Amino acid sequence: MAAQISPSILSADFARLADEARAVDGADWLHVDVMDNHFVPNLTLGVPVVESLARATDTPLDCHLMIEAPDRWAPQYVEAGASSVTFHVEAAAAPVRLAREIRAKGARASMALKPATPIEPYEDLLPELDMLLIMTVEPGFGGQAFLDIMLPKIRRTRELIAKHGLELWLQVDGGVSAETIERCAEAGADVFVAGSAVYGASDPAEAVRALRSQADE
Ligand code: DX5
Ligand code: ZN
Repeated sequence: MAAQISPSILSADFARLADEARAVDGADWLHVDVMDNHFVPNLTLGVPVVESLARATDTPLDCHLMIEAPDRWAPQYVEAGASSVTFHVEAAAAPVRLAREIRAKGARASMALKPATPIEPYEDLLPELDMLLIMTVEPGFGGQAFLDIMLPKIRRTRELIAKHGLELWLQVDGGVSAETIERCAEAGADVFVAGSAVYGASDPAEAVRALRSQADE
């Protein structure tokens, strides 16, 4: 599959969210980081902001829920207009039921793993998912350094996806930039979240194009 780029609005100016969303027209997704100050030590935005963002841009929303009780909240993000909803397996009470509910409501179901969470216990869940997110930093903040030690997990996950013959997308999030995206692509990732590398650039739309062509090389 061709590489997809999902700019993270966490690194954007929150007072100008609609303009910042449109500044990356041409991106495959807009990555929306929802944090509740419980699952991670940071607080961002919730359902009403996602509803407004969905009206403000034609780019599909990729909501990354870094929250407790995703079983209760994730369906509301689909209703708010998200085309893809990612919950953390560490927080989900019933990941299979939740993935099925997200799909039944019409969005892509995605599950995220923190750096210390192994993929192997979840091999049998993969057919229930449309995307798996491997965090390449500890979730909570933008602008952190990419964790190279996650590359073997990306590689092992890609092998599991191939072994089961699945059409599962493999997303990486955290520290993805011009310096690190090729390593991620080589290891098997195909959806790339980039916050500071896109919104820290003088031309965010051009940064998206440059990252995509680097990942596709
Ligand atoms: C971190 C968030 C990321 C963050 C990435 O917990 O999940 O999506 O915005 O930011 P960068 O690309 O700057 O590491
Ligand atoms: Zn994220």
